[in-house]
Amino acid sequence: MSLVPMADILKKANEEYYAVGGFNINNMEFLQGIIWAAEETNSPLILQASEGAIKYIGMDYLVNMVKAAVKDTHISVALHLDHGSSYDVIMRCIREGFSSVMYDGSKYPFKQNIRMTKEVVKAAHSVGVTVEAELGKIGGAEDDVKVEDKDAKFTKPDEAEEFVEKTGVDALAIAIGTAHGVYKGKPELDFDRLKEINSRLEIPLVLHGASGVPEEDVRRAVTMGINKVNVNTNFQQAFTGKIRELLDNDPKLYDPRKYCGPGRDAIKAKVKEKIEFFGSKNRA
Ligand code: 13P
Repeated sequence: MSLVPMADILKKANEEYYAVGGFNINNMEFLQGIIWAAEETNSPLILQASEGAIKYIGMDYLVNMVKAAVKDTHISVALHLDHGSSYDVIMRCIREGFSSVMYDGSKYPFKQNIRMTKEVVKAAHSVGVTVEAELGKIGGAEDDVKVEDKDAKFTKPDEAEEFVEKTGVDALAIAIGTAHGVYKGKPELDFDRLKEINSRLEIPLVLHGASGVPEEDVRRAVTMGINKVNVNTNFQQAFTGKIRELLDNDPKLYDPRKYCGPGRDAIKAKVKEKIEFFGSKNRA
């Protein structure tokens, strides 16, 4: 199967009240662990790469690995750019075959974010590519995107309505108390805000920074309009944790297949757990 636009995957999720994982790829083991888990659970999948991951893996390697991964798959898969920082980066990803992009203009003032997102939407939609945008400012750190706690800003429902109307985006990442990376304390999600935003918008909403959010809170958010849940940190922890355990237990171990393979299995098991509680199992 070839890659599909993320809008197709999210439309069904939105109509049927479940969420699809936006799962980050950091290397080949991540890609395989994630796609194998999605295939075995018959779940649609959004594979996403940050600019940092593209730089680390290399654009050609990344795109061709993903093409190889989806060649014989029966599930719907979108390849999505996570936190695209500029029009140029986004155009490059579209040219290389991404079926979806996120333009993150959240660092700009509201009007500028609208103007720049609108330009991206115009170009992406002309070639059938989906666009996710961000409004408010999600805290924490994701590669080069770093937002101090004092600078994090919750999404305002009035602004969300105006933003979606003026830009025509397909999906909106909202700030309701989550943060990228490892949490310092227990995250407190603003469910009233989510309810208000969802009541004003028709499009799917996206929850970033979901790794440290308790399962029941993610489930609740999904029943309230979240249709895409991003996870990266949990898979990094699963992969690295397994490798650390194996190397600590056996100082003579040197064949990377003997620790990266189990690391990949650990990612796969985590992905299956997420798919189960996002509700996307058997929806491919
Ligand atoms: P985590 O750091 O919580 O895994 O979030 C990832 C994310 O939101 C990617 O955009």
